[in-house]
Amino acid sequence: TKSRVVIVGGGPAGLMLSHLLAQRGIDNVVIEKRDHDTIYNTHRAGILEQQAVKMLTDTGIDGRVLTVGDEHDGIDLRFNGESHLLHFPDLVDATVTLYAQNEVFFDLAAARKRDGGDVRYECDVTEVLDVESDHPGVRYQDKDGVTHEVRGDFLVAADGSRSFCRRQVPEGRYSEFTMHYPFAWFGILCEAPKSAPELIYANSEHGFALISQRSETVQRMYFQCDPEENVDNWSEDRIWSELQRRVDGPDGFQLKTGPIFDKTVLQFRSFVREPLRYGNMFLVGDAGHTVPPTGAKGLNLAFADVKVLFEALDTFYGSGSAKNVGLLDAYSDTALKRVWKAQNFSYWMTSMMHTRNDITPFEKKRALGELETITGSRYGRQYLAESYTGWPHGSTS
Ligand code: DHB
Repeated sequence: TKSRVVIVGGGPAGLMLSHLLAQRGIDNVVIEKRDHDTIYNTHRAGILEQQAVKMLTDTGIDGRVLTVGDEHDGIDLRFNGESHLLHFPDLVDATVTLYAQNEVFFDLAAARKRDGGDVRYECDVTEVLDVESDHPGVRYQDKDGVTHEVRGDFLVAADGSRSFCRRQVPEGRYSEFTMHYPFAWFGILCEAPKSAPELIYANSEHGFALISQRSETVQRMYFQCDPEENVDNWSEDRIWSELQRRVDGPDGFQLKTGPIFDKTVLQFRSFVREPLRYGNMFLVGDAGHTVPPTGAKGLNLAFADVKVLFEALDTFYGSGSAKNVGLLDAYSDTALKRVWKAQNFSYWMTSMMHTRNDITPFEKKRALGELETITGSRYGRQYLAESYTGWPHGSTS
């Protein structure tokens, strides 16, 4: 079959692109390996920039992001056992919204279904075809093992951090930039009330902890751990005492605890593939770049890529006879500018908030000096707040 745009990957990036294209009458198909419920049950980060919220609400996705989502005015940076509140509206006239990524997926999948979108779940791409031609495509196997082929004008790789499509680009046609960290995150979901009104990013000599939320009754928390850590070695008691000692302080702050119903170790790295294009295949979101989780830039960055690529495709199809490829040719460079800003921010937040096992006494004191510098100055708080709430879409300055 032939479709104008073939999108590999039905996560938030692929579905958002599919939704935007469909709204402009640009026919497209999404090929996704997993089934709907597996994606819905995959827990990811939960912070949306205002612009990501706007992409959902301005384009006719169900408004659950506004009703179920929770608008946050700031974060609490906690170190040395003391809390430092950054108030985003005061600092940068912005807020963020806590809304879990799997809910974003749920809403997008529902909108595609409602609008008659062609989203093929449980279809495993086995080959990319003629990517350097004007009729690129993929071969895939459906859940019954039947092989199909679909082609279009463009192929979009939105197939996540382990992207199959990305790995089909021949050697010598790309560069990759990678940074590994000597730690991972131990993530839990628990039934408990909120421990504090805002998210707490805690630096301590025992390591980083993030006290996040999901609702009035369900909370999400993480603590820095060894990448090889096994969740089976962690009883509820052990998890709570580890989390508590990372937020302990003279103010006597106590976490609100409750039954833990999900435990996962999350590995992460910083990674960028350049360029984000090969022939007529474009890479968006995690397929092209991943960030460490501190600061929750992953989905926001994927949506920013989608916006740039959507506008380029819309211009291409909209201009009729004088097909304009200018924005498509600029896609990789345009998207990468923001990618590297987000890489810097995510690397910086991760490095500043975590404590390496082999840290020297000097480095420990220096790290506190950095946190004092940031929280102790309006400029410092603004710098963090501007990056956290997100640089304006379409601006590289
Ligand atoms: C969450 C995850 C993050 O990485 C972050 O910076 C903030 C919140 C979360 O899952 O809630």
